[in-house]
Amino acid sequence: MQLSDLYRQHVAEMGRRTINALEHTGYEHLLIASGVETCSFLDDRSYPFRANPHFLSWAPLDHHPSSWIVVTPGNKPILIYFQPTDYWHAPPAAPSGDWTECFDVRVIREAAHAAAHFPQKLSNAAIIGDVSAALDGVVPNNPTPLLNRLHMARTRKTPYELALLRHASARGVRGHRAAEAAFRSGASEHQIHLAYCSATDHTDAQLPYENIVALNANSAVLHYHHTPGPSPEHLLSFLIDAGAQVSGYACDITRTYSAHSGAFAELIHAVDEKQRLLVDQMRAGTDYRDLHLNCHHYIGQVLHATGLVDMSPEGQVEREITSVFFPHGLGHFLGIQVHDVAGLQRDEDGGAIPRPPGHPFLRLTRRLEAGNVVTVEPGLYFIPMLLEKLRAGKDARCINWGAVDALSPYGGIRIEDDVLVTDSAPENLTRNAFAEA
Ligand code: GLY
Ligand code: MN
Ligand code: MN
Repeated sequence: MQLSDLYRQHVAEMGRRTINALEHTGYEHLLIASGVETCSFLDDRSYPFRANPHFLSWAPLDHHPSSWIVVTPGNKPILIYFQPTDYWHAPPAAPSGDWTECFDVRVIREAAHAAAHFPQKLSNAAIIGDVSAALDGVVPNNPTPLLNRLHMARTRKTPYELALLRHASARGVRGHRAAEAAFRSGASEHQIHLAYCSATDHTDAQLPYENIVALNANSAVLHYHHTPGPSPEHLLSFLIDAGAQVSGYACDITRTYSAHSGAFAELIHAVDEKQRLLVDQMRAGTDYRDLHLNCHHYIGQVLHATGLVDMSPEGQVEREITSVFFPHGLGHFLGIQVHDVAGLQRDEDGGAIPRPPGHPFLRLTRRLEAGNVVTVEPGLYFIPMLLEKLRAGKDARCINWGAVDALSPYGGIRIEDDVLVTDSAPENLTRNAFAEA
């Protein structure tokens, strides 16, 4: 089916979800602000604009500040499209394309004119947006019960969203391949980043998150952000966590490479094997918390098998030794937001499903359902500040410090794929994209 047909179906589904949420929460209208462009303090330079994800879930308009969507059951959704007369900047082009047929489009030249297109009586309207989008006394109220319903619905991707997520994966993989080639040719972190942006055809501001491009020990910094500088004298390893987006839908991919064969290359291979095992466990009905705990056992197995830790995997998990080497969660929901909504939400009415004790950074605690898109991102790092604590504690004697110290200059390993949960075998969006590249 063509993307335009999938989009039409998607908007129809968005309408059904919205009517359901309005009915259950007693509102008559839903207004969604795209957001406003904001300048830094005492300056006329604006921050990069990031659209309200609720706005993006309706329309493929990721750089359209001061626009609105108005949904009233029984009426065609209204898109208030801000197209200023502005010769200092390039304003958005006039709305065009098949997607416009899904809306009653009203073009405005002044942001304040949006109010003329709002329903006359707004006392019973849900208004989603940042407070900065407030207009003429119309202030976003972001009702939690309504947001809970919309967020829970967003965990089940529509066929249109899946098509965009597959496109985003293909786009990201183009960047990852260029980045690996740049690494192999001895490029610096910044040069690798530029090769990535060029291959994905993204500016920095369009990336769904800041690229993590780390050589050697820098790859032990979980959210490392490079600055321009020379490449290291001795190239050991490369970790890249970088995404791409299509109409606001993201991929989130990490790969780790060794500059040469040896213990670190073998460790990458071992983590990669466990990562594939975990991907295969992304099945409807499975509690993601159990998969996260399985991952800890797998990391314990790798640490034991490679002689880094002389303790059973079970013992390592119990003594929280695996958390020293793998101190983040196994993954999260993915969609419009890279860390997409409702990862901990109990059900449509809200509430939270707790994280397992001792795992404060897990972002997904739900039982998986068909239509969920999740990341699977086990890691194994040599993080000095965590290793120092281990070295000072009573489990220090179980650690092969010679091997740990020899591997520490390599930093760490993370392997991250984006996976669609289905009613049968999971679909690995990332590995499929690499295979097709
Ligand atoms: N790129 C951020 C993450 O993997 O969650
Ligand atoms: Mn991720
Ligand atoms: Mn990532």
